[in-house]
Amino acid sequence: MITKLLKIENGSEDAVSQAADILRRGGLAAIPTETVYGLAANALDCEAVSRIFYAKGRPQDNPLIVHIADFSELDALVTEIPDTARALAARFWPGPLTMIMKKSSIIPDEVSAGLDTVAVRMPSHPLARAVIKTAGIPLAAPSANLSGKPSPTTAAHVMNDLGGRIDAVLDGGECSVGVESTVVSLVGKPRLLRPGGISHEQLSEVIGTVIIDKAVTEQLEAGVHPTSPGMKYKHYSPKAKVVIVKGPLEQFVRYVNENAGEKCAVMCFEGEENAVPLVSVTYGAQADSASQARGLFSALRRVDELGIETVYARCPQSDGVGLAVYNRLLRAAAFDVVQA
Ligand code: TXA
Ligand code: MG
Repeated sequence: MITKLLKIENGSEDAVSQAADILRRGGLAAIPTETVYGLAANALDCEAVSRIFYAKGRPQDNPLIVHIADFSELDALVTEIPDTARALAARFWPGPLTMIMKKSSIIPDEVSAGLDTVAVRMPSHPLARAVIKTAGIPLAAPSANLSGKPSPTTAAHVMNDLGGRIDAVLDGGECSVGVESTVVSLVGKPRLLRPGGISHEQLSEVIGTVIIDKAVTEQLEAGVHPTSPGMKYKHYSPKAKVVIVKGPLEQFVRYVNENAGEKCAVMCFEGEENAVPLVSVTYGAQADSASQARGLFSALRRVDELGIETVYARCPQSDGVGLAVYNRLLRAAAFDVVQA
């Protein structure tokens, strides 16, 4: 299959309507969102949804997020809209927030992976919104990477992973948030399942206490069923081994100088490139979690392009959006954290 690269040249209409046509006919199109690129299909067409799993190599038991463009579309997807969902939507939709609610019968089992809940998000990216509106259907869309790889934040990342496996990629440039949406379950007590573009602090301001699921910062013990199936899989992992080194820059430098061998590199913050005599890949500025979020996945992909075997990463802060950066880096490192 040849994957069409749809570019926005003279206005977005033509590229958007081509993507929407592909989706209406049951095909797969990767689309930009403010978080990461998503691999979209008609959420109400179980055959189209099955193609997503096949193209990504995604485990069948990992459910998908359904994307809508207007709050009124939510009614048909869930059995009931909790007050907490209304309050969060009023404040954060459209935007990088996914809410889990009880699913209605129109959601195919392929989307919910057999669970009785569905994850719904209203993206803010103008192209994502235009495609959903033009297609006139809700879109199931996981991140548009091969399963296990870092999520794609450019059309080129998507092409590298899925070129030849999907119908089209709509090029919308670089994603502005850079990490995936925050996932919060509103079935029972509000629970943060995946930190993302909307911080835990922001959620709590609107709906009060939000439990942070253990799997956000800790490795699950063998045999434990996570609330969010996605959390049990190896994720965001480059081919290189990633080691997170905690501590101030001087101690990081000392640790790396003592431990690094051949084909090692560092993932550091801007301005720290010359701190050690190794190849360095930067991911944002030290005091700026949003810039780290934007740069993280590109940096992980870059490390593999350079043929690095071990990369020592500076440890991000873990408040605000930093919790999302830390959570993704922890998984990329398979929880390998050392204190320098
Ligand atoms: O920012 C994002 O959310 C991107 C863009 C494309 O919208 N999408 C994305 O999808 O990150 P994906 O499939 O890569 O991650 C969805 C996560 C998975 O960890 C999955 O297990 C969880 O959401 N999830 C989906 N439905 C769920 C449900 N009903 N209950 C619990 N977790 C659910
Ligand atoms: Mg993903």
